[in-house]
Amino acid sequence: MTAEITITKPDDWHLHLRDGDALNATVAFTARQFQRAIIMPNLAQPITSAELATAYRDRILDALPAGSNFQPLMTLYLTNNASIEDIRQAALNEHVFAAKLYPAGATTNSTNGVTDVAALAPVLDEMQRSNLPLLVHAEVTDANIDIFDREQAFIDKYLLNIRRDFPELRIVLEHATTQQAVDFVMANDHTAATLTPQHLLFNRNDLLAGGIRPHNYCLPILKRETHRLALVKAAISGNPKFFLGTDSAPHATNTKESACGCAGCFTAHAAMELYTEVFEREGALDKLEGFSSFFGPDFYRLPRNEQKITLVKESWSAPDAYSFNSQTLTPFRQETPLLWALK
Ligand code: DOR
Ligand code: ZN
Repeated sequence: MTAEITITKPDDWHLHLRDGDALNATVAFTARQFQRAIIMPNLAQPITSAELATAYRDRILDALPAGSNFQPLMTLYLTNNASIEDIRQAALNEHVFAAKLYPAGATTNSTNGVTDVAALAPVLDEMQRSNLPLLVHAEVTDANIDIFDREQAFIDKYLLNIRRDFPELRIVLEHATTQQAVDFVMANDHTAATLTPQHLLFNRNDLLAGGIRPHNYCLPILKRETHRLALVKAAISGNPKFFLGTDSAPHATNTKESACGCAGCFTAHAAMELYTEVFEREGALDKLEGFSSFFGPDFYRLPRNEQKITLVKESWSAPDAYSFNSQTLTPFRQETPLLWALK
C-alpha cells in the first residue's frame, strides 16, 4: 500500500514572490500547495506603506491561476523613516498582517532597511499598541562578525532588548537557523519562529563540502549540524511557537551561479514534499499538521483552513530548471529525487 498523509491545507508564513514578470512565474507554485502566505515586502522598491501593500496584493491576485482562492497576506517593510502613522494605517488595513525588520545590508533588497534599531522604538511601541506582529530578519550586518555568528549576535545585541522593552509585541524570528534562536523563542512569551525546509534538511557541508553549491546558498546561511538538529527537534516538538515558513526566494539561475551569487533557495515547487520528508525521517508525521497548518494561523490569530491536502510517498525529480521570464529558475533539491508528492 502506498503511504500517504492527509492534513489540513497549510499556509506559508514566509514567502518571496517578487514582482512584475517574475511574479507571474512564481505565484502558481505556492498557490498549488498553500491556502495563504505571508508575503515578504523586500521588492526593489520596498513595500513601506499600506497603500503600496494593497497595490502589490492586487498584482499578486492578478497573477494567480484562474480559479485559485490563494490569499496573500501582506507585510510592511520598516525603514529608518517608518512613522507611527504608517503603522496605524497598516494595522487598520485588512490586508496587512505584520511589519518586517530588515537590518540594512543583511540580505536581498535590504539597502533601505533599518540602520538604527534603537531609534525604531516609537514604531515598535505603536506596533505593540495596535497588535501588529514584528517579523525579524535576525542577523547583524557588522563586517567584523563572522557570518555564521550573525544570528546569535543579533539576538544578543538587539532582540533581547526589543523583547524586554515591548513585552506584549508579537515577534516572529524568521527563518531560525541556530540553537540560540530556538532557545530564545522557547524562553520568551509572544515569540515564535518560522523554519525553512533548507535549514531542516541541510547543514553547511551541503553548501561547501566537495564544491560550492550555490542553490543551497541563502541567508541566514546554513549552519553546522548541531544547529540543524536543534531546528528539527523544535519543528517536530509539537510546540506551537515553531511553524512553517519556507522563505522560498527565487533568483534567476545565472544570478546564483555567479562569482558573487544571490542568496535564496527556491523551494515553492516542492515545499510540502520537503517538510514531509523531514517529519517522516524523524518518525513524526503526526506532528506535521500542527507545524504546517495550525500553529501559524493560531499565532497570527487567523482561522485555521478547512480544506485538506494529501501527500503520497512517491519519488519524483524536480526539473533542471523552470522558466523564469526569459531566464531560468533552478529549484532547490534538484539533484536528488524528492520522496513525497502532493496529490
Ligand atoms: O536567502 C535569502 N533570500 N534570505 C533573505 O533574507 C532574503 C531572500 C531574498 O529575498 O532573496
Ligand atoms: Zn525571506
